[in-house]
Amino acid sequence: MRILVVGSGTMGHGIAEVMAIAGHEVKVVDISWDILNRAKEKMNESLNRLYEKKVISESPEAIMARISMSTSYDVASDIDFGIEAVPEIFELKKKIFQYLDEKAPKTAILATNTSSIPISEIAEFTNRKEKVIGMHFFNPPPLMKLVEVIPSKYTSEETINETVELTKRVGKVPVRLKIEVPGFVSNRIFIRLVQEACREVESGEASIQDVDSAARNKLKLPMGIFELSDYVGLDVVVDIWKVIVSRGGTDVKCSSFEKKVSSKELGVKTGKGFYSYPGGRYVKVPLPEDSKADPARIISLAVNEGAWLIENNIVNAEEIDTVMKLGFNFPKGLMQIADELGVDSIVKNLEDIEKKGEKAYSPVKLLREMISRGETGVNAKKGFYRYT
Ligand code: CAA
Repeated sequence: MRILVVGSGTMGHGIAEVMAIAGHEVKVVDISWDILNRAKEKMNESLNRLYEKKVISESPEAIMARISMSTSYDVASDIDFGIEAVPEIFELKKKIFQYLDEKAPKTAILATNTSSIPISEIAEFTNRKEKVIGMHFFNPPPLMKLVEVIPSKYTSEETINETVELTKRVGKVPVRLKIEVPGFVSNRIFIRLVQEACREVESGEASIQDVDSAARNKLKLPMGIFELSDYVGLDVVVDIWKVIVSRGGTDVKCSSFEKKVSSKELGVKTGKGFYSYPGGRYVKVPLPEDSKADPARIISLAVNEGAWLIENNIVNAEEIDTVMKLGFNFPKGLMQIADELGVDSIVKNLEDIEKKGEKAYSPVKLLREMISRGETGVNAKKGFYRYT
């Protein structure tokens, strides 16, 4: 298959690498040769690491030989599949989809790796709405197994099936949303974790290290919430947060993330975010073992969001857990953790914070019903899952 990746930043170069590893011919387009050469270096570095660890058996040189680069959209003229992975700037995506629609064969599917913007809004800039779809990868793409597949209200069943098949062929696991929602499943939940982490720190309940230590040492997540935000990029986090809130998501008053972005401290890529990363390289953040932060409180708002997604028939509990395990390397699914910590404890935390004036924490209907039915999780033998 001939695949075009537009944008060669953090996600774009990783996606191109994944496609080339799977044997596809890949064209990468970006605005300058400086950016493209940096992407080439990063792909080489990553492929060498994978080769040394025997994750791949083909030589990095042979894989790189399938990747070509360009600063012109003309290379789209013979592609089968296009994937856009540029920053979350709506006007930029609009321009790119108009170009791609004009240049690419009418038969080509055009996917966007947007992390939050509804796909229908992007599809509307093209004359092939039924062939536009969301294909959302996770950072770093060569390591993370998940791809969220997000059909818009226009996407045809054929386009969905082809995208699901491509996802599987490149060794990834697709989770298909039934209906698109801003932020999809992954980032609606991720932003809720971020919002609660931010609220705990700004209200003085816990420090940044407390929250991150509890996330890593009590919840056993691979990264703390602030650490993960630094890894994703604080500008990206704020963009996703804004997209969700501007399209109806309830907000949580918290300014620490926006302040970091205003002072150009964007996380790993700028060498400084909530933590420091000398040379702009990620290193595991040193954290204290002890923490006064409560893990049930940290995940409470995210679980409320998960319950909302289930209640609205967007995905089920298993699909949410697949997203969190394969997209964020959680050792267990979020809804499974909620069952273990107790749905009653989650709801108690939500109500406590709601009383402080935070409307977003109002427990959704499904959680209230579960409590009234006594479905409080593992202890009650029933929660989001059944236990024998
Ligand atoms: N290519 C190849 N190998 C890579 C790599 C890459 N791009 N990045 C890391 N690795 C390798 C490292 O070389 C290392 O190999 P060894 O074990 O052989 O030394 C291994 O992966 C582990 O890396 P590190 O030692 O640097 O650090 P770690 O043990 O903390 O693992 C991690 C890093 C896999 C990223 C892990 O911390 C993790 O899973 N973190 C969570 C990541 C996550 O949640 N991603 C999703 C973010 S959200 C998103 O992307 C979507 C969005 O829309 C915002």
